Amino acid sequence: MDSKELRSLFLNYFQEKGHKIVASSSLIPDDDTVLFTTAGMQQFAPYLSSQKNVLEKFQTRHLCSCQKCFRTDDIEEIGDDTHQTFFEMLGNWSIGQDQAGYFKEGAIKYALDFLVNKLGLVKDKFHITIFKGNSFIPKDEEAKEIWERHGITHFHEFGEADNFWGPVSNVGPCGPCSEIHYDRGEEYGCKDCGPNCDYCKRFVEIWNLVFMEYFKNEKGEYEKLKQTNIDTGIGFERLLAILNKENSAYETDLFSDLIKEIEKHATLKYKDDKIAYRIIADHLRGSSFLIGENILPSNTERGYILRRLLRRIIRYARIIDLDLNSIDRLIKVIILKYHHIYPELNQENIVNIFNIEKQKFARTLEKGLKEIEKLTEITPRQAFFLYQTFGFPIEMIKEEANKKGIEIDEKGFKEELKKHQEISRKGAEKKFGKNASEKEIKLHTATHLMHQALRDVLGESVQQMGSSINNERLRFDFSYTKKLSQEQIKEIEDIVNQRIKNGFKVIKEEMSLEKALATGALAFFKEKYKEVVNVYTIKNNNEIYSKEICAGPHIKSSENLGTFKILKESSSGANTRRIRAVIN
Ligand code: ALA
Repeated sequence: MDSKELRSLFLNYFQEKGHKIVASSSLIPDDDTVLFTTAGMQQFAPYLSSQKNVLEKFQTRHLCSCQKCFRTDDIEEIGDDTHQTFFEMLGNWSIGQDQAGYFKEGAIKYALDFLVNKLGLVKDKFHITIFKGNSFIPKDEEAKEIWERHGITHFHEFGEADNFWGPVSNVGPCGPCSEIHYDRGEEYGCKDCGPNCDYCKRFVEIWNLVFMEYFKNEKGEYEKLKQTNIDTGIGFERLLAILNKENSAYETDLFSDLIKEIEKHATLKYKDDKIAYRIIADHLRGSSFLIGENILPSNTERGYILRRLLRRIIRYARIIDLDLNSIDRLIKVIILKYHHIYPELNQENIVNIFNIEKQKFARTLEKGLKEIEKLTEITPRQAFFLYQTFGFPIEMIKEEANKKGIEIDEKGFKEELKKHQEISRKGAEKKFGKNASEKEIKLHTATHLMHQALRDVLGESVQQMGSSINNERLRFDFSYTKKLSQEQIKEIEDIVNQRIKNGFKVIKEEMSLEKALATGALAFFKEKYKEVVNVYTIKNNNEIYSKEICAGPHIKSSENLGTFKILKESSSGANTRRIRAVIN
């Protein structure tokens, strides 16, 4: 079965059962606290929590979709059998209940009917997970009883970590779930294990049925929703692999045409270096979809993810000796595969952006390679210098060094990296933290507010290039090509002052850098971050004003912040503007 066929089988099945087919929403979700869409339900969240009326919008409670998704947590793991950055999720929903609505019984019945009667999978290979309950939600005996009535015999109980789904961000609809895992057989792993085994990949999760009855609020408490909902998700790539008795989605038509095309332009073949091929194929597909959302490579947020993918393509292309002049041919294969459902993919656009980034990266690489040429040994400190100055990943330094017969002390490099992070953290504290005056702290918080206001008014291409604060004023350099008009300056001042007037609190949270980026915190990659960072969110009850990775300190709330005024706006080098502003 190929991907096109599976997509339509699913959507047609649910359409026949009275569901409305809803087009995929954008990879950039409405909820701006998350970086990317990672689940089919995101576009339906306001209906699931009954903030919006589902019948008014869709004229039915029953929906299904094939949703574009993008996950960034596992970029380093791409290349194995199961991970991809971009993927699709098939899902069906029953939102709220009236006589026509369905809940656990309906969801389970449809799932089994589709898998067994439409796709021909064997029921006895299904292993079902059941929520075992916690202090405030009981064990899901009801779901178990329904599954049993439908002839299921293999059950496994899990707690919150595995069998409770959502919310996507900190707040939103969520609930216990029941997952269908497919047993691929002993030859794929342990003799005697079950779903979520730590040691093997014998069991593959194919469908998650969420019984969405709760809402996690701002305080982290679970409230019962006014209505019950069904939210389901099938990992499209995984199911396709299983139906084709393949180990991995990389062996299905979603990737095999692309891999064949890559082979035509590379020296090494897929069998010689599967990992490099899969990374290139995944990242080509993923970056094509990001560009399809009008994201451009940059050093922050979504643009940074795109830049990382594009640069990894270039690095791994060197490993298999792939001629990147063939990029248009590769992108064409992706377009052919997806254009019928995702017309936003534009070959010329993708190729152009790729080529511009390639040139930028080439200049950096060239300088770095010249530097390596001069060396007869590479100490950990020199490796670190190459890493920091030219953005050379350690694998690449190793590769270049090996060509010259030089060994790299990777452990030493990591220690050097840690030492540096330690120093820059201390530096940051000294520069600002410990001795900052009350006035400086206020200006610091005002800087965050202004930064977001700049992005609101001038667009997301605004990036912080530098910032300095003293007892009198803040100074802020940012990327932008034109002089700001008087109206724009006024608008920025007004936004900041309105936010001060509406009130806010500044909330500090510690989290991993990956998580901070995934939740959409602004970051400035001229700076080097620790693995664990502080994220400062400025928000009032209704609205998040700003979210940045930052060493602090900040004021706690808007009380007495004063009035914000821009004193001067001027040029500060090519494509960089500078603002001086005060708080009175
Ligand atoms: N929202 C559920 C998931 O993404 C179905 O797994």
